[in-house]
Amino acid sequence: MAVQQTNPLRDLNDRRLPRVAGPCALVLFGVTGDLSRKKLLPAIYDLANRGLLPPTFALVGFARRDWADQDFAQIAEESVRAHCRTPFHEDVWEQLSSGMRFVAGSFDSDEAFIELAHVLSDLDRVRGTNGNHAFYLSIPPGFFPTVIDKLRTSGLSANDAGSWRRVIVEKPFGHDLKSAQELNKIVDDVFPPGSVFRIDHYLGKETVQNLLAVRFANTMFEPIWNNKYVDHVEITMAEDIGIGSRAGYYDGIGAARDVIQNHLLQLLALTAMEEPVSFNAEQIRLEKEKVFSAIKLPTDLSRHTVRGQYSAGWQGGEPVKGFLEEDGIPKTSKTDTFAAIKLEIDSRRWAGVPFYLRTGKRLGRRVTEIAVVFKRAPHLPFSATDTEELGSNALVIRVQPDEGITIKFGSKVPGTQMEVRDVTMDFAYGDSFTESSPEAYERLILDVLLGEPPLFPRHREVEMSWEILDPILNHWATHGRPDTYEAGTWGPPEADEMLARDGREWRRP
Ligand code: BG6
Repeated sequence: MAVQQTNPLRDLNDRRLPRVAGPCALVLFGVTGDLSRKKLLPAIYDLANRGLLPPTFALVGFARRDWADQDFAQIAEESVRAHCRTPFHEDVWEQLSSGMRFVAGSFDSDEAFIELAHVLSDLDRVRGTNGNHAFYLSIPPGFFPTVIDKLRTSGLSANDAGSWRRVIVEKPFGHDLKSAQELNKIVDDVFPPGSVFRIDHYLGKETVQNLLAVRFANTMFEPIWNNKYVDHVEITMAEDIGIGSRAGYYDGIGAARDVIQNHLLQLLALTAMEEPVSFNAEQIRLEKEKVFSAIKLPTDLSRHTVRGQYSAGWQGGEPVKGFLEEDGIPKTSKTDTFAAIKLEIDSRRWAGVPFYLRTGKRLGRRVTEIAVVFKRAPHLPFSATDTEELGSNALVIRVQPDEGITIKFGSKVPGTQMEVRDVTMDFAYGDSFTESSPEAYERLILDVLLGEPPLFPRHREVEMSWEILDPILNHWATHGRPDTYEAGTWGPPEADEMLARDGREWRRP
């Protein structure tokens, strides 16, 4: 009997094969902004360099600049050379830049959108982008409605059979629940749900995705991942930088809206959720939404939330300004540059386990981590002095910068005495894998071009996270000013007091 030979390399679902995007054009609104220059353009180049974009790929910049295509390509090249993750290759750049176009105009200009439609149909013909167009809105949220409306009236949001149109929306997705609902309606009226990609770049980070692998591909973690063993969970996203030149964006937004509403609540959901039925977008989102709907806010928000604002201090051996002295920040600003909150999850798995979330600018160092801190052993058959230096067991997912996982546990100190002290066992990506992790934006842009949505929060998730945050923001708005902390420290003393009241303390990563 003849044995049928199958070539595994021909299997389209083979995970070893790179996923290469099909023919398409990406339109970048806000191409002159910080995010485009530092992250998006370099990520697009890195994708091209990794062979993940087709030769037919085209990139269209849209902004209010008097640029020709060549000017745009030149500015993009400077950004790419300064920020790309993979080596710069002239031939890759030539191929990529041959598909670059620029459309000059303001977001409310009908003529500019007519011109954009011409450019795209020309690219479809000449470059072979086949009518597949993605629109990336890396612009201040106040412009979202205008741009979405112009995409509709110019006919750009509507695709012909056999082609697709997608829209990518950068955060902040709203300012509160009401504005998020309005924005969702505007976007959903023009683009069908499967073609809207709301970016939360934390979900594109390798270590964040690994959280799901660690939890659901192993047997040893899940049995202890509950209130029987876990004492509390700390999720920290600390930055050493200040607000830099982003005063216009940051003032009035603050740390809680900028980071907790999206990145930290997403990390919480992935840490707390039940195992999804499968790893498709729908199932993962369902589990995350269940977590959001079970979140309970503390009744006394004054005792269980803290916001802070940095004052002048020292960072990396240099004196740095306080927030109120930063360019473009009014002296009376009440914007939070630090926020810490306590949440609980009303479920059998998590009842009684607090989740502490904190984020801030100008903190001790740049670090993002999820620390699952376990209960102390119910009984220690040692004398009290033997275990004086023994803390709690912890499993720490190090999201960045030193990506990996640390497990902290007690071990005997060598010698004749029985002395038990904390030690750590580390897994570092760099030691175990030769490939370096792609930037989150590489992964996310590729997923949009491939039309794969698991890593993008949907409409309802965004609204649910505002539902959690709104009462806290309202409370702060009516209760005085943020507490002060010196730049380079770990936030206001009130944040330490908040945990001390629960008999706990923040980790100092
Ligand atoms: C963005 C915030 O979403 O995340 C910024 O708007 C913050 O304020 C940035 O600096 C941090 O991202 P990362 O990937 O460097 O941790």
